[in-house]
Amino acid sequence: MSDRSAQPGPGEERRTLAQSLARAQALGLERIDAQGLHLLALGRPLHDRAWLIAHDQDELGAEVQAHIDALLQRRAAGEPQAYITGHKEFFGLPLQVDGRVLDPRPDTETLVEWALELIPAAPADGGPTEAPDLQLLDLGTGSGAIALALQQQRPRARVTAVDASHAALDVAQANARRLNLPVRFIHSDWLAGVHGRFDLIVSNPPYIRADDPHLAALRHEPLQALASGQDGLDDIRAIIAQAPAHLQPGGWLLLEHGYDQAQAVRDLLTQAGGQRVCSRHDLAGIERCSGAQWA
Ligand SMILES: C[S@@+](CC[C@H](N)C(=O)[O-])C[C@H]1O[C@@H](n2cnc3c(N)ncnc32)[C@H](O)[C@@H]1O
Repeated sequence: MSDRSAQPGPGEERRTLAQSLARAQALGLERIDAQGLHLLALGRPLHDRAWLIAHDQDELGAEVQAHIDALLQRRAAGEPQAYITGHKEFFGLPLQVDGRVLDPRPDTETLVEWALELIPAAPADGGPTEAPDLQLLDLGTGSGAIALALQQQRPRARVTAVDASHAALDVAQANARRLNLPVRFIHSDWLAGVHGRFDLIVSNPPYIRADDPHLAALRHEPLQALASGQDGLDDIRAIIAQAPAHLQPGGWLLLEHGYDQAQAVRDLLTQAGGQRVCSRHDLAGIERCSGAQWA
């Protein structure tokens, strides 16, 4: 098969690709993840699953087999697929990600879709507006996923992205450069270092309770991106306290939160003077985001 093939070591048996994929599934890996890791080890494009099917009776060399086994073990130990491949697609954007940032979740696309509904798009005839100077802010940008998706979908908007982690900002800035998207990045503890007012503020902040047993399964991701005090709402409270002073009249604040936090977040938004308070469901039917408008 490929020129990466090598003779098996003493006492080792050669596996075919099909056997290796079956072994990955026996380790508990999803088929799509197993296929991606095989393609990575074989130096093939990560989407080229048709190639795997066409070559499933090819024998693996010892070197490539050892490489595949090491990748499968990492995945079986709970490391996100995106960290192993270094790649994650979010809202159609190819992002580079690693252990410095949260692995962007499909659920977060719900927040992006809601934000886009609130931002008028440019007319199809290329006419003068989609409100060219709309100011958008993404708090806790991580890999840049939300900010970059908004900038790509609304090229005339001015998108600013904030994170308290220098390491995360390095990842987000590299993604912005590679995708040629002119997002402005600020290092700040939420809005402490941010000046000016915005038409829309969005955030997927940390929202897991500090004692939540699920945190153990997320140990590969930065704790600063996940945990937020005893009830998981410390960062959401901080953002709701700070954001209204940075909104233009009529501006919206949209927040992603945990599956059981919608009512608590709606209450916080109402107490802070938000109007038209409401929530949005994710693809699984869970109330995943809540938001409000300030008059
Ligand atoms: C749940 S992650 C979201 C990352 C990204 N927006 C996404 O949706 O994939 C939360 C992000 O908030 C950042 N963060 C945590 N505390 C912060 C703070 N006090 N100020 C600004 N950013 C903070 C973390 O570094 C992390 O990147």
